[in-house]
Amino acid sequence: MAPAVLIENLQKRYGTVEAVKDVSLQIEPGEIFGLLGPNGAGKTTTIRCLCTLTEPDAGKVEVAGISVLANPRLVRQYLGYVAQAVAPDKVLTGRELLQLQAALYHLPRSLATARIEMVLNQLGLQEYADKKTGTYSGGLQKRLDLAAGLLHQPQVLVLDEPTVGLDIESRYTVWSFLRQIREAGTTVLLTSHYLEEIDMLADRVAIIDQGKVIAAGTPSQLKDQVGGDRITLRIREFTPNDEAVTAKTLLEAVPAVQEVIINAAQGNSLNLVVDPQSNALSTVQQALQTAGLPTFGIAQSRPSLDDVYLAATGRTLLDADLAAAATRDEKAERKKQMR
Ligand SMILES: Nc1ncnc2c1ncn2[C@@H]1O[C@H](COP(=O)(O)OP(=O)(O)O)[C@@H](O)[C@H]1O
Ligand SMILES: [Mg+2]
Repeated sequence: MAPAVLIENLQKRYGTVEAVKDVSLQIEPGEIFGLLGPNGAGKTTTIRCLCTLTEPDAGKVEVAGISVLANPRLVRQYLGYVAQAVAPDKVLTGRELLQLQAALYHLPRSLATARIEMVLNQLGLQEYADKKTGTYSGGLQKRLDLAAGLLHQPQVLVLDEPTVGLDIESRYTVWSFLRQIREAGTTVLLTSHYLEEIDMLADRVAIIDQGKVIAAGTPSQLKDQVGGDRITLRIREFTPNDEAVTAKTLLEAVPAVQEVIINAAQGNSLNLVVDPQSNALSTVQQALQTAGLPTFGIAQSRPSLDDVYLAATGRTLLDADLAAAATRDEKAERKKQMR
């Protein structure tokens, strides 16, 4: 069977901006695939190329073995697209918006009516269907977006940052819904800059940074590749510098410990990379005790997807997002000054 989605060496630039430099990925039928990366990484551009909304400069894009460039109309039948931020038409009701969507996909009227009933039920929207969407909360609006994306029963549902700005309850609703439609056989591609979301939900993930895929695999494979468990350790709630340095030197001599970093931003807590599946935790505690140092708190964990990102790029996802936000602010400021 052809992959649900195949992207090879995709490139797309806007003027001088190389939004996508080199993205390749393959999504199998029936899986939830996550595209994870900081703001500005090229996630939206990638899926806009996939969904025939933007023409790529180079590369191969296929849906179910069909070329997106050669057969855009056909491919659209296979795809459902839920955009990142939609400006809702506030005057129409939820049902009217779905009717409009059905017309866009040329669904015959009787089929459309039946499908609309179905998706309204699926997403728990019945009681809101005849209210104007202007009165909807963010969570309701997103459920309506999902309903609209599913109306023509696409084989592949593509969602761009589906839970941005939603409260936790609405996020749970979206997550459990995506799992449900996977059970029903739909392939799901979602982008996110929330690593917990991708970690929890995705069968496989591609991490994208500055227009390139920097890592791909199951969340578990990616974490294994980084190697080592993590130990986070606090000597005291706020550890004095000299004591942190002493502890660092001491712990670096412990055989199971690969690396020790002092995190000044977190009250000089210590971040250790240790041999996986070792009894490093007790060895470390022992070493501190012998040296007469207290432990305020200590925990061992497997690496996270952020550790994967950190290993590949030298910064955390959060820092990358903050940097992107700062650049945007600077650009906005410069524009203001030019007026
Ligand atoms: N229509 C556009 N015109 C100019 N630059 C764009 C356009 N769309 C995206 N970009 C730029 O391309 C880069 C990637 O953007 P995008 O694909 O939206 O990233 P993401 O979705 O990962 O946040 C960013 O630097 C962004 O500013
Ligand atoms: Mg985006």
